[in-house]
Amino acid sequence: MNETQTVIFVCLGNICRSPMAENVMRQLVAAEGLSESIKIDSAGTAGYHIGDPPHAGTRAILAEYSLPCIGRSRQISTADMHQPNTWIIALDESNKNDLLRLNHSHPKLFKLLEFSDSPLNPSSLDVPDPYYTGDFETVYQLVTAGCAGLLNQMINGQ
Ligand code: 4NP
Repeated sequence: MNETQTVIFVCLGNICRSPMAENVMRQLVAAEGLSESIKIDSAGTAGYHIGDPPHAGTRAILAEYSLPCIGRSRQISTADMHQPNTWIIALDESNKNDLLRLNHSHPKLFKLLEFSDSPLNPSSLDVPDPYYTGDFETVYQLVTAGCAGLLNQMINGQ
């Protein structure tokens, strides 16, 4: 990695899944000593929760695993989708389809679980939404495996 890279995790509301991924990834990147060369952010496709802190369930599960929980909800912009050296990581298919509408030829738009060796269901690489399921533990496990795979790809991929 020669140039600074940015990763933006994107879910629907930017209060449950993408802030969880942001905070998990930031810790993994710090553990590799790469905080200066990989910047981590998150956003929502929707603007319902702009300015809100992460959901209580996300705050609680991150605290359980002794991780910080920082950030406020914001909505993804067309400018984000055209910024160079930026990985756009969607949490599910619906998020990815919404993002494609903002830039249908983004070179680094993926779903997080494309990088996981242990997705919940290999035929669906979606992270289920705990805003509806209430299961933040399952999301934490999925997000952690996905972030580890993503970081490995960023470090070792071409
Ligand atoms: P997230 O979950 O996309 O993982 O942040 C949701 C948060 C809020 C809503 C839906 C999903 N909402 O409809 O307000």
